[in-house]
Amino acid sequence: MPDVDIRPLGSSPAIVSTLSEILVEVVAHGGSVSFMHPLAPEAAWAFWDGALAAAGRGERVVLGAWDGEVLAGTVTLLLDCPPNQPHRAEIAKLMTRVSHRGRGVAAALMRKAEALAVQRGRTLLVLDTATEGGASGLYEDLGYVLAGTIPDYAFKPHGDLTGTMIYWKQVGPA
Ligand SMILES: CC(C)(COP(=O)(O)OP(=O)(O)OC[C@H]1O[C@@H](n2cnc3c(N)ncnc32)[C@H](O)[C@@H]1OP(=O)(O)O)[C@@H](O)C(=O)NCCC(=O)NCCS
Repeated sequence: MPDVDIRPLGSSPAIVSTLSEILVEVVAHGGSVSFMHPLAPEAAWAFWDGALAAAGRGERVVLGAWDGEVLAGTVTLLLDCPPNQPHRAEIAKLMTRVSHRGRGVAAALMRKAEALAVQRGRTLLVLDTATEGGASGLYEDLGYVLAGTIPDYAFKPHGDLTGTMIYWKQVGPA
């Protein structure tokens, strides 16, 4: 296990600023997380400001992995599902700062997000990841099942289309 402390992030200018910095960095390094490079800091700020406001309303949980005072990574658990899917949640925006990759930060974030989902009574998790440069190996190691692949789904941050792979996992009591 990496030596990081994982906890939900609340909204403050410092947190929004740090998350924005990580998002800009991850996109610049080719991470497929819905944005194109170069990502303007203001656009990254607007995204996280909105995301943390949604977290404040209980619609999602934004987890942060802290290495001391440094925010090493983040993942979001989306809880705001339609009325006929109260048992489902989505995993999104899994990102580890480049300086902290390969130390198990993302795997630890995923385990914490799953535990939180179970605590909230969610039994089905879904997520998607890019075919090229995504994190399918990580998700498969964690027991996610590939539902299928959609070709040419989105542009990579530096251009060129890539497919998306859709995964699911049942969690909690059988
Ligand atoms: C994907 C990402 C979050 C992984 O972060 P990380 O903290 O370095 O990952 P971890 O160290 O926890 O890796 C855990 C395991 O997954 C594997 N893994 C990590 N990234 C992987 C990838 N992109 N593809 C396949 N396997 C991967 C690791 O080898 C490790 O396996 P091991 O336990 O057998 O050694 C990070 O590379 C990142 O931020 N990428 C850009 C954004 C992105 O693509 N996010 C996913 C979008 S859905």
